[in-house]
Amino acid sequence: MKKRVFSGIQPTGDIHIGNYLGAIQHWAASQSEFDNIFCVVDLHAITVPQEPAVLKVKTREVAGLLFAAGIDPEQSVIFVQSHIEAHAELTWILNCFTPMGWMRRMTQFKEKSLKQKAEVSVGLFDYPVLMAADILLYNTDAVPVGEDQKQHVELTRDVAQRFNAIYGETFRVPAVVIPEVGARIMGLEDPTQKMSKSESSGQTIYLLDSPDDIRAKFMRATTDSLREVRFDEARPGICNLLVIYELFTGLGRTDIEARFERKGYADLKRELTEVVVAGLGPLQARYRELTADPSHIDSLLAEGAAKIRPVAEKTLALVKERVGLG
Ligand code: AMP
Ligand code: TRP
Repeated sequence: MKKRVFSGIQPTGDIHIGNYLGAIQHWAASQSEFDNIFCVVDLHAITVPQEPAVLKVKTREVAGLLFAAGIDPEQSVIFVQSHIEAHAELTWILNCFTPMGWMRRMTQFKEKSLKQKAEVSVGLFDYPVLMAADILLYNTDAVPVGEDQKQHVELTRDVAQRFNAIYGETFRVPAVVIPEVGARIMGLEDPTQKMSKSESSGQTIYLLDSPDDIRAKFMRATTDSLREVRFDEARPGICNLLVIYELFTGLGRTDIEARFERKGYADLKRELTEVVVAGLGPLQARYRELTADPSHIDSLLAEGAAKIRPVAEKTLALVKERVGLG
C-alpha cells in the first residue's frame, strides 16, 4: 500500500515560485511513490474577507495551475474543499474535542489577527481545526507543508490522539514533512521576508508572469555591494537568487559557483531569468490549454471530489457513530 499524502493550498492571491519550489513541485514529483490528495481550501480562504467573484476565479486558477504543474488526475486527486461537506461537519465535531488553550497557542492566528484591519472572525481562530478535519478525513500518513504550517499539523496530531484516547482508534495520526532545500524562498525586493502571495508584485515571481515581467523583477532584485556570486547566507539577496537558480536547474552549488566565478550579478540575473522563463514556459502553455475550455477544470474538479468523497464519508460516519450522533 502506498502512503497517503494530503496537502492543501489556499485560493487567495497568485501562486508564486515559492509555492512551486517549496510545495507544488514536490507534490508532482512524488505522485508515483505516494497516494496524493491535494485540496484547494476555499473554506480556509473565507476566514478572512474575500470578494465572491474573485474567490471563484482563483479557486479554478489554483486548481488549473496544479494540473498544469504536472499533477496528473489519473494518479492524484485534486478537489475543492467546499465540494465535500464532510470537511465542515467534521470540523464542528473536532471543535468540541479541542481545548481552547491549544488554540490560543497558534502563532499564525496571532500574526494574522494583528495584521487584519477588519474585525477578526471566529473562523480565523478555528482555521487549524478545519485543517485537522481536512487531514484526518482521509487517513493521511504524511502532510508536506512549509515551516509556517508545522504547528497546525502538530495540533492535528494532538486532536487525533485525544479523540482516539477517548473513543478508541478512529483517526490515523499523520506525520509532518518539511522539504529541505527551498523550504523558504525569499522576496526579491526584501530578501529578509518570505516570498508570499500577499506581498507587492515586485517581491514575487508569479507562475503566470510573462517573460518580460520575470526579467524586470529579477533585474530589480535587491543584492548587495559585493561582487562575488556565492551561496552565502550572510548575503540574503544573492543567496536567494542562487537558490532559485539551483532549484530550477538542478545543478550542484559548486558547479553554480564555478559557472559564475568570473561573472557579475547582472550575468546571474540574466541567466536566472533564462532558466526561470524556460522552466515556467511549459507549465504556462499547459495552463493555457487546460483553461481554453472553461468547463474543463470544473469537470476535472468534480471528478476529483467524486473519487475521494466516499473516503471522507466513511471517516465521518465512523466518527459520528463513536460520538453517538444520529
Ligand atoms: P500558502 O501560499 O501560504 O497558501 O502556501 C502554500 C504552500 O506553499 C505551503 O506548503 C507553503 O508552506 C508553501 N510556501 C508558501 N510560501 C513559500 C515560500 N516563500 N517558500 C517556500 N514555500 C512556500
Ligand atoms: N493552511 C495551509 C496553508 O495555508 C493550507 C491547508 C489547509 C493545508 N488544509 C491543509 C495544508 C491540510 C496541509 C494539509 O498553507
